[in-house]
Amino acid sequence: SARQRAGSGALSFKPIPPNQLDNLVVPNGYDHSVVIRWGDEVVPGAPDLDVHQQTAASQSKQFGYNNDFVGVLPLDRKGRRALLVVNHEYTNEELMFPGFTGHDALSVEQVKAAMAAHGLSVVELERVDGTGQWRPVRNGRRPYNRRITALATKFEFTGPAAGSVWLRTAADPAGRTAIGTLNNCAGGVTPWGTVLSGEENFNQYFVGGDGAPAEAKPKLARYGISTSARYPSGSRKWERADERFDLAKHPNEANRHGWIVEVDPFDPDSRPRKHTALGRFKHEGANVIVASDGHVVAYMGDDERFDYLYKFVSDKKYLKGNSWVARRHNLTLLESGTLYVAKLDYTSADEIDGSGRLPTDGAFNGRGQWIKLARGNRSYVEGMTVEEVLTFTRLAADKVGATKMDRPEDVEPSLATGKVYVALTNNSNRGVGANPKADEANPRTANKHGQVLELVEDRGNNSAESFAWSLPIVCGDPTDPSTYFAGYDKTKVSPISCPDNVAFDGAGNLWISTDGNALGSNDGLFATAVEGPERGHLKQFLTVPIGAEVCGPFITTDDRSVFVAVQHPGEINGATIDKPASNWPDGDFAKPAVVVAWRLDGGPVGS
Ligand code: FEO
Ligand code: CA
Ligand code: CA
Ligand code: CA
Repeated sequence: SARQRAGSGALSFKPIPPNQLDNLVVPNGYDHSVVIRWGDEVVPGAPDLDVHQQTAASQSKQFGYNNDFVGVLPLDRKGRRALLVVNHEYTNEELMFPGFTGHDALSVEQVKAAMAAHGLSVVELERVDGTGQWRPVRNGRRPYNRRITALATKFEFTGPAAGSVWLRTAADPAGRTAIGTLNNCAGGVTPWGTVLSGEENFNQYFVGGDGAPAEAKPKLARYGISTSARYPSGSRKWERADERFDLAKHPNEANRHGWIVEVDPFDPDSRPRKHTALGRFKHEGANVIVASDGHVVAYMGDDERFDYLYKFVSDKKYLKGNSWVARRHNLTLLESGTLYVAKLDYTSADEIDGSGRLPTDGAFNGRGQWIKLARGNRSYVEGMTVEEVLTFTRLAADKVGATKMDRPEDVEPSLATGKVYVALTNNSNRGVGANPKADEANPRTANKHGQVLELVEDRGNNSAESFAWSLPIVCGDPTDPSTYFAGYDKTKVSPISCPDNVAFDGAGNLWISTDGNALGSNDGLFATAVEGPERGHLKQFLTVPIGAEVCGPFITTDDRSVFVAVQHPGEINGATIDKPASNWPDGDFAKPAVVVAWRLDGGPVGS
């Protein structure tokens, strides 16, 4: 969008220090409030949360658990109303159900409530008193408010693998409609006003992989599903509520998850879609930019140690404007195109010793290629059909020699510059034992703190097949010599660990949220300029309560509000709803919640 500037803006807020408070902390001059919590009303008429009486019916109308992706889409031109779209990635049954003693002991109704606590929520918001604060609209019809769940929502498959033999099940012999969405992690808002949501760790919901057909086992195993145990450790036992989660009976059901989902929040009756053209892996999310040649490009990460970075380029071109004809066309853009995986080349690979020491040429950088896996109905991978490439994309990427990365999570292009930023969270196994050694893009052995990669497509065209890359930030405590902040004075930057989600403000600054701070403080949200003399001057903007990770984040198009999702507050070993480790946000047991922060003087956030 035109609103984004190049990303050289100075960030004027005073950074907040690392802390372990059971509170959400924002800088001086800012305030924050809880927008919506687990159990709050989404669908009009939802009952109040009663943790002793959780049912599929109540949770299907309430805000779900473990909010992750956050999108805020304007509903009017005056900036008074907006639609909040949120992912609910997973459930912490021990923090939800009083007296929890194990998944086996939950009633089938409780299991169904947990399934309904997964998925997405769409909630109409109103601005409070002309400020940057927002709250849910609490009365009236609220026609857009909607819950999408793992329990009951129907999805349609699109693209070349829709209807393939790999997607057919007893319940859906045509292989064209799936029930539910699982483990929706990050996502993105498209230029045509829909939301993309990544189905990430779907493997954890399935049992019975030991009883799957022999030919299915290697494919299941590559996606992290045990093929030797009926009940892998931590199994949720959802097959007690719905036998499709038993792979011994329904081996293809796992293939119906792990996709990018597209939801149109402006059409509450629309059936959400799973786009097979974007491949199947542990999708963190997808973020779209319109390339200079008019095609749309979606950037995506597969969040697993030693997995890959991907992009999709649409066959059709984007139509500008908000006309009905343009929107209807743009809604088809992700149904056909080219799927690529990244291969990175190194300029100084022989100098990388795993310590994080900068190479003698002064930078972790190099060039790279996008390797074509499939285009339209054609496979580019030897020995695999296009349906196989798209459904078992990890296996296809293995064959073509893609670069094994340190957990690629959120991947997002700056709409101002077209440069793409990749959060590489960490990789405790890098260079350990027989695992791949450190390389220039993943330069530290047993990488605890992660790094941020910047990718610049050739000729400034996001549909290009080659690119340059560098690491502007190698995370950790700035006093640690293995860290790097784009050459900025390290005495002036905030410590950061485990970058996970990224976003941009209107000045083009990069905002980074963390998951699993290995420095011992609570997780946080950070911001830095990415161009000019302030590049690398990273500052901590916010911290979340004990046990939580920061998801979202989302800066509204008017730059007046920063939304974050506070996910799994109080998720500490041994903590339960009866013995909570956190009392955030309301003094009672912990509840995941979406928070908005704003500047008290009404100015643009960050700057
Ligand atoms: Fe759900 Fe990769 O974080
Ligand atoms: Ca180099
Ligand atoms: Ca994430
Ligand atoms: Ca994460």
